Amino acid sequence: MNAKTFAGSEKYMRRAHQVIPKGVNSSRRAVLRPTPLAFTSALGSRITDVDGNEYVDYVAGYGPMLLGHQPPRVIEAVRTQLAAGVLYGGQHQAEAELAERIVRMVPGAEMVLLNVTGSEAVQAALRMARAATGRRKTVKFEGHYHGWIDPVTANGPGSPAGTGPAPRPAIVADHHLVGPEILICPWNDPEALADLLGRHGADVAAVIMEPVAVNGGNLWADEGYLATARRLCDQHGCLLVFDEVVTGFRLAPGGAQQRTGVTPDLTVLAKALGAGFPISAVAGRAEVMRIAEEIGHAGTYNGNATSVVAANAALDVLESDQDSLYPRLERLTNELADGIERLAARHGAPLQALRAGALIRLHWGAPTPARTYADTLAGRTEPLRHLSEHLIRSGVHARDTGLWYISAAHTDDDVDRTLAAVDQALAAVSRQPVGNTG
Ligand SMILES: Cc1ncc(COP(=O)(O)O)c(C=O)c1O
Repeated sequence: MNAKTFAGSEKYMRRAHQVIPKGVNSSRRAVLRPTPLAFTSALGSRITDVDGNEYVDYVAGYGPMLLGHQPPRVIEAVRTQLAAGVLYGGQHQAEAELAERIVRMVPGAEMVLLNVTGSEAVQAALRMARAATGRRKTVKFEGHYHGWIDPVTANGPGSPAGTGPAPRPAIVADHHLVGPEILICPWNDPEALADLLGRHGADVAAVIMEPVAVNGGNLWADEGYLATARRLCDQHGCLLVFDEVVTGFRLAPGGAQQRTGVTPDLTVLAKALGAGFPISAVAGRAEVMRIAEEIGHAGTYNGNATSVVAANAALDVLESDQDSLYPRLERLTNELADGIERLAARHGAPLQALRAGALIRLHWGAPTPARTYADTLAGRTEPLRHLSEHLIRSGVHARDTGLWYISAAHTDDDVDRTLAAVDQALAAVSRQPVGNTG
């Protein structure tokens, strides 16, 4: 470890603790070690904290920064828009332009509605599914995350039956509304889904999933699994909803649905859509989307001009540069993941780096290759926390969960630097006594 100091971040956190619960505005940020960091700037693949420490950034704002920090065309478009206003409370040209782009890029999108966050777009999609089918229940999968709004918080990472530092069960039981309308299904188990829909299908409005279970461990669906889910939904008259908040635009211009060839009825998009500006979307079959004409759709900030022009610029880059951009992202991701696994083998660390598009998820001590959520829960979280702490001390900003986002701004030099830091960090973590199995 080198001698980075974090005095400025620690001072900030002491101040924030007085007026902000846990000192952070999204709880997971509080667990970062050696201390939650306070930042002053970010550019390209780099981010800088109040102590002047610069990091190669794989947190990427928790995913939106697919083009890196301050992508020039996005920033330029927003600057231009700022001179013309931020929020009109009415329509503007760029909204229809964005919807047309999404329809062009995402296979399942025939119509589009905008929101601001992933969580609320999930809620909009599920409400539309209930209205379109006249049914009340939703099927979700173990370990999949669909935002922080009840009741789909059930059985996601960090929830009662999920991974990570779960809130105290009593508090969860009191405050998370996990009603009978949510049915939980294991991932990558076609018989379990057939059985669940066989028993409850007539009451199920929506089957919602992350088509690659990123939050549940970065697990691809097994060959044929998504097609089976599609067929079962059709058989039982349920709508298939892909939560592509993370995978949308990241795995391919058309997201996981383009990569897998399975088209959902509704898709939720966010994160990479806005390149850091807050925007999300529900997109889908026109026949289903038109239900919004009956039940309504609302939000003061929906379609705000700055986010919409940012999204148009970001998608323009992703669409026009796709032939070079996506293969490069995949190459960098593979080099990083292969490098991490090679170093892990050298240090005798039971580490695997599961990859999906420009995403890596590390698992320590899980069965190899991890395929199910249960496999990932068999892994140990404490060594990953140590790894993240050592990496931060060596100038690599990576989450304690082992979920790494690679961006178009990362370079070969970043990968080399990162692997040198991983080498040091693994040496340190491998020396640490095996104690905590958490
Ligand atoms: C797959 C998925 N869905 C939904 C959400 C919620 O999005 P937001 O945090 O913008 O509300 C997230 C957030 O990480 C996510 O990963």
